[in-house]
Amino acid sequence: MRLAKYLAHAGVASRRAAEEIVRGGRVTVGGEVVTDPARDVGDADAVTVDGARVAGAEERVVWALNKPAGVVATARDTHGRRTVVDLVESRGARLYPVGRLDADTTGLILLTNDGELANTLTHPRYEVPKTYRVRVARAPVGDRAVRRLREGVQLEDGPTAPARVRRDGRDVLEITIHEGRNRQVRRMCEEVGHPVVALERIAFGPLRLGDLPPGRARRLTGSELDRLRRRS
Ligand code: URA
Repeated sequence: MRLAKYLAHAGVASRRAAEEIVRGGRVTVGGEVVTDPARDVGDADAVTVDGARVAGAEERVVWALNKPAGVVATARDTHGRRTVVDLVESRGARLYPVGRLDADTTGLILLTNDGELANTLTHPRYEVPKTYRVRVARAPVGDRAVRRLREGVQLEDGPTAPARVRRDGRDVLEITIHEGRNRQVRRMCEEVGHPVVALERIAFGPLRLGDLPPGRARRLTGSELDRLRRRS
């Protein structure tokens, strides 16, 4: 197996990030520094990254978590805050989140040790749809605001792609986007005059949050994994 793929399977990083790690001279195979990400390695090889031994490819798992507010969506937080990874009983699997949610956003986030899958699901090319339930201020939300959200609004980093938008009462919208720009839904709503009061992700690709309680995680089933992988 190619070295970068081996590192991705072992949960070190996404395939692309692993290639950079290898090129940076941080990886040894059998005690020798290797800078070619395409170098062939197998389970019998002793591989290290920054001097630490990499365990062979572990079983690849994906978890769904209902992220509570205040928990950060990174693998490790430099300020010591609770992270999404802390909420999953992964029994040794080194998980990291698939994409980002703001600390104050709640709802569905996936965690996996499958760097390749994570990379694919977050790559703009694959346009994975993400649906948010959004409570906004300055209700009711008028037709014009809904139309602008649907057609795309101008943000400081460029126009947004058309979104699916459904009104659900005076102050709640269901918005589906397939981009993943920083604080995108909050900025879109702000731009049309309705600042976000609460934001929850209720679907990611073919998966729905369902009745998973806040703070709880579950492993995806085989058929859910198949559906997810078919997208990628
Ligand atoms: N859009 C946002 O504004 N925040 C999130 O956390 C996710 C999407």
